[in-house]
Amino acid sequence: MNIPMVDLRPLLAATEPVWRANLEALFERMQFVLGEQVAAFERELAQSFGAGYAVAVGSGTAAIELSLRAAGLGESGAEIIIPALTSPFTAQAVLAAGCKPRFADVLPDSLLLDPQDAESRIRKRTAALLAVHLYGQPANLAELSKLARRRGIALLQDACQAHGAQLDGRPFTHFSRAVASSFYPTKNLPCLGDGGAVLTDSRSVAQQLRLLRDGGRRSDQTSRIRALNTRLDEMQACYLRAFLPKLGEWNVRRARLAALYDQALAGCEPLRPVARTPDSVCHLYVVRAPRRDHLRRHLAQHGISTGVHYPVPLHLQPAFRDCGAKRGDLPIAERACRQILSLPLWPYMPEGAVEQVAARIREFYRRS
Ligand SMILES: Cc1ncc(COP(=O)(O)O)c(C=O)c1O
Repeated sequence: MNIPMVDLRPLLAATEPVWRANLEALFERMQFVLGEQVAAFERELAQSFGAGYAVAVGSGTAAIELSLRAAGLGESGAEIIIPALTSPFTAQAVLAAGCKPRFADVLPDSLLLDPQDAESRIRKRTAALLAVHLYGQPANLAELSKLARRRGIALLQDACQAHGAQLDGRPFTHFSRAVASSFYPTKNLPCLGDGGAVLTDSRSVAQQLRLLRDGGRRSDQTSRIRALNTRLDEMQACYLRAFLPKLGEWNVRRARLAALYDQALAGCEPLRPVARTPDSVCHLYVVRAPRRDHLRRHLAQHGISTGVHYPVPLHLQPAFRDCGAKRGDLPIAERACRQILSLPLWPYMPEGAVEQVAARIREFYRRS
């Protein structure tokens, strides 16, 4: 049996009557941009994530850019501290906002932003910390928000991989003014194309975000500020509204599959899983695997797809070469990028697939 990394078909099948009804309502109404589907989704998302407001935008990247702009940092050239191990889109969003990424190292076990290393990289030009909840695992927000307060800088969040997660029962919006989310099709809460949202507890930030996503307009043809055109499509909201009520159940299924992977891979030295806490919504199941690329080929030969999130730390990617860090400056992230491997995981993955993947991994290390 071939095992893909992700399969959206069962998610669509489980929610079909709801998204079909939403699409019918949309086609009845014929308002395809910023209509009632997006408005309803924003209300439902804010309520589900325990936030005051949600503003739906065109992608997770746009959500991060708008978070920075709504914090007053647009075109400031200020430095924003981000982990060296995250999606390149985190750093692209910082550049798009007219700021500059400054990379900090990650913790060796969880691969999340290391607060101590982040602090050591703060300097005069630093305006914010951007925490990334990598692989579905919340970053240490308690410590990062204390650090941000102590040093007089802002804290923002890239929660593009952590839908439905909280920290010790507290919504992410308790810790910062803006939290960015992506609905890219592989995410825990996906849509069928690009989409994103910013969550906030602040009415004025929400108002600013609504201006920023829609050309600076307020339901008219007057641009009040320099702004973008990055709105979530009504069509995507039809799917997101159908998926959102299932997110909790889907996250439970992910956690169960991740626990099964933990069991099946226990004692499979030298491979070890990246550390998670019960707060993780298990977006990805990531292991550290010596001889990673050989293992990946072995799994592919047996029909098992895998991913690498991410193969090159950001400071060594050509687009971010002039951000002031060179090889050797972020050693934990650099080492991790050579070893990390994401195994197949989606809510309806058959439990037997976990054992199948684990058996092929054991076979690989036994032989090598
Ligand atoms: C951590 C992280 N940040 C940012 C993004 C960018 O989101 P999008 O692809 O929706 O622009 C993603 C997803 O691709 C991500 O995983």
